[in-house]
Amino acid sequence: MTAVTDADSLSALTTRAQSCAERIRSSEAVLLASHIDADGLTSAAIAATALERADIPFEVVFEKQLDDAALARIAQTTYDTVLFTDFGSGQLDRIAEHENADAFTPVICDHHQPADGSTTYHCNPLLEGIDGASALSGAGVAYLLAQALDGGDRNRDLAALAVVGAVGDMQATDDGLGGVNATIVEEGIEAGVLEERPDLSLFGRQTRPLPQLLQYSSDVHLPGITNDRHGSMRFCDSLPIDLKADGEWLTWVELSADQRKTVVSALVQHALERGVTPDAIEDLVGTTYTLVSEPEGTELRDASEFSTLLNATARYERADVGLAVCLGNRDGALDRAQSLLATHRRNLSSGIEWVQNNGVTRCERLQWFDAGDEIRETIVGIVAGMALGTANIDRDRPIVGFAEKTATESKVSARGTGRLVAQGLDLSTVMGEASRAVGGDGGGHDIAAGATIPSDQRDAFIEYADELVVKQLA
Ligand code: C5P
Ligand code: C5P
Ligand code: ZN
Repeated sequence: MTAVTDADSLSALTTRAQSCAERIRSSEAVLLASHIDADGLTSAAIAATALERADIPFEVVFEKQLDDAALARIAQTTYDTVLFTDFGSGQLDRIAEHENADAFTPVICDHHQPADGSTTYHCNPLLEGIDGASALSGAGVAYLLAQALDGGDRNRDLAALAVVGAVGDMQATDDGLGGVNATIVEEGIEAGVLEERPDLSLFGRQTRPLPQLLQYSSDVHLPGITNDRHGSMRFCDSLPIDLKADGEWLTWVELSADQRKTVVSALVQHALERGVTPDAIEDLVGTTYTLVSEPEGTELRDASEFSTLLNATARYERADVGLAVCLGNRDGALDRAQSLLATHRRNLSSGIEWVQNNGVTRCERLQWFDAGDEIRETIVGIVAGMALGTANIDRDRPIVGFAEKTATESKVSARGTGRLVAQGLDLSTVMGEASRAVGGDGGGHDIAAGATIPSDQRDAFIEYADELVVKQLA
C-alpha cells in the first residue's frame, strides 16, 4: 500500500504514547483490559510483555464489548490505573464518568472512532489524522506504547505481534500494510522477527497440503478448483512435478522456489483458460508476512494464519489460550488453540453456507440477514465479511448481519468495502447512530462496525441504518 503517514502526525502520536507510558510507569500496578479478537489479543500480549519487562505488576481481563456492565466490573477492581487496548475510545464518554468519580485513571490505546469527550492519556491514530481502519491497529498502538515504555529497542521484537493484529483486523491490502503499520513492519524486519515478501496469497500456506490450500482459495475464485475437492486434486495431479513426500502432499512452504513457480504458472494458465479476469488473477499473488522466529509448518509462522488461530480462541471465550500462545507458552496452549481452530473453521463454513442458503434482504442501499441463533454472535461479523462478494451477495452494498445475543438483544455486525468507503460510507457512524436511535449502542470503523440492539427493534434499526447509508453514499 502506498499510503504514507506524515512525520508530524506520527510524531504527535508518539508523544501521546509517551504520555501514556509515563502514567503507566508511575503506577504501582495496572489493570490491562482488552478486546476479544485477534487484534485485541495481540494488543494485550504486546502491552503485557512490555509491562513485564518494565517490572510493572499487572492483571489482564478481556471483554467482548466495553459496555456499562464491563465498565462497572472494571471500576469495582482496586486498580488505580486501567490500560485499555483495542477498545476504549468509542466509550470515552462513559469511561470519563468513572474517571470523574475517581474509580480509576484510564489510559486508552485504541484505534476505534472516538466518542465525544476527552481524557488525559489517550493514544489513537484518529486523533492525529491517521486512519484507524488501515494505517494502524490496536496492536500497533500497543506497540507504540511498548516502545515508549522501554525507550530503547528492547521491545522491537513485538513488531511481529503488531503485524498479526493489523492483519487480523484486515488492514493489509494485496500490496501489504501501509501507513504506520509499514513502519512497524520495517522495525520488525530490522529486529529479525519478520519477513515481508510477495507470495501466493492463499490462506494456509504454512499448514495446508497443496490440494486443500487450493480448494479453500475463497479469496480468489478458481473455477474447477475452489470449493471443488476433486477438481483441486485433479489439478495437483496434472502438474508436471512431484509435490509429495512419502506419499503425502507438501504444504506451500515446503515447496522449493522452482516448484512454487511451476504451480503459480499452472494456476494462472488454468484461470486464464477459464475466463478469470487478469485483475482477479493478479490477486493470486500478494504481500505476505512471515514470523521468522516461529516454528515452520505452524499457524504461528504466518501472520494471517496466526490471526485466525487467535480469533478461534478469543471469540469462543478462551482468550486466555490465545494470550498464552502470543506470550510464547506453546505446550498446552498451542494444542488447545489448534483444536479450537477446527471448531472455528467449521462454524465459519457453516455460517457462510447458512447465509448463502437463506440469502440476504436488500433495502435501498443495504443488504442484511438475520441468523438468529444459527451463527454465534461473536463470529457473525467475520461471516458477513466473508459472505460479501459470494454468489448473490454483491459488493456494491454494505452487508449487515444479525445474530441472537441474549433472549432480548441482538448483535449487529456491518461490513463494507474500500470502494464504498471512498464513496463516503462510514459504518461506525451508521451503527452508532442507528443503534442509539433504538435504545442500543455501537461503533467501530468506517469499513467495519457493530452494535447491540433490542431484538424487537431490528426492523426500525435497519430502516434507520439504510437511510443513513443512502445519505452517506448520495
Ligand atoms: O475491534 P477491532 O478493530 O479489532 O475489529 C476490527 C474488525 O473490523 C475485524 O473484525 C476486521 O475483520 C474488520 N475489518 C474488515 N475490513 C477492514 C478493516 C477491518 O472487515 N478493511
Ligand atoms: O463485532 P464485529 O466484528 O462486527 O465488530 C466490528 C467493529 O465494530 C470492531 O472494531 C468492534 O470493536 C466494533 N464494535 C463496536 N461496538 C459494538 C460492536 C462492535 O465498536 N457494540
Ligand atoms: Zn482492532
